[in-house]
Amino acid sequence: MNGAPDIYDPTFVKGVFDRCSKRYIGFSYVFSAGFTERWRRQCVQALPPMPERASGYDLMAGTGEVWPHLLRHHEDIAEITAVDISTGMHQRAVARLHKHRAHKIAFIADNVFVSTLPDASADFVIATFGLKTFNPAQQAELAALTARILKPGGGFSFIEASDPRGWPLRPLFLFHLKTVLPLIERTLLRGAQDFAMIGRYCSDFEDASGFAAELSRNGLDVEFKRYFFGCATGVSGRKPL
Ligand SMILES: C[S@@+](CC[C@H](N)C(=O)[O-])C[C@H]1O[C@@H](n2cnc3c(N)ncnc32)[C@H](O)[C@@H]1O
Repeated sequence: MNGAPDIYDPTFVKGVFDRCSKRYIGFSYVFSAGFTERWRRQCVQALPPMPERASGYDLMAGTGEVWPHLLRHHEDIAEITAVDISTGMHQRAVARLHKHRAHKIAFIADNVFVSTLPDASADFVIATFGLKTFNPAQQAELAALTARILKPGGGFSFIEASDPRGWPLRPLFLFHLKTVLPLIERTLLRGAQDFAMIGRYCSDFEDASGFAAELSRNGLDVEFKRYFFGCATGVSGRKPL
């Protein structure tokens, strides 16, 4: 044992995001050149049609970046329950950014691996950029949770930054993640290497195909998608009736 931390331990992950929460939105927008916003919108567009006055979960909700897209595309959503292990991310979200939508947003500070969300309670489940901090065994747990909490007929959509294998510009993309981001953090942000950790999670994640297989194994109808040459990948579909 060399004493290196388990970067997939939920307590470790919570620490990373609690420390990042103050600057997360600006950082993710600027250093993805706006792609994160576009991918959140595409993730919402990939959700199957929903019933009127739908309610559901935004898992690993962070600072609620997907809510504006969700409420724009589905104006009559009755309630979004945001679930996140990092209270830092959520407090910032509601206080500073989403005051005017607060009546439609509930929050549960929860670790999805020990979640007590009720069975068959969601018309939809969405998660944007919440997969990368999960190792394959944890992705399997998340897939089982998704299948359990969706109502029959309920829809889901997930998206995550991914390794664009086979894309000629892949070396540049990896250079950006593994070298440029840590350098910026060291020089401009003088941070505790937390944004660099996010870069490491991204490059280690590969893509959402393993998660797609787990969702299928749990009985869901699943479609796997690649966005912008595979720089992000997503899964969407339904729980059969
Ligand atoms: C990269 S942020 C994504 C935030 C937001 N959804 C977005 O679109 O940017 C990942 C979020 O997942 C949360 N998270 C990580 N592990 C978790 C777990 N086991 N249970 C609940 N939330 C978790 C983190 O606290 C963090 O806020």
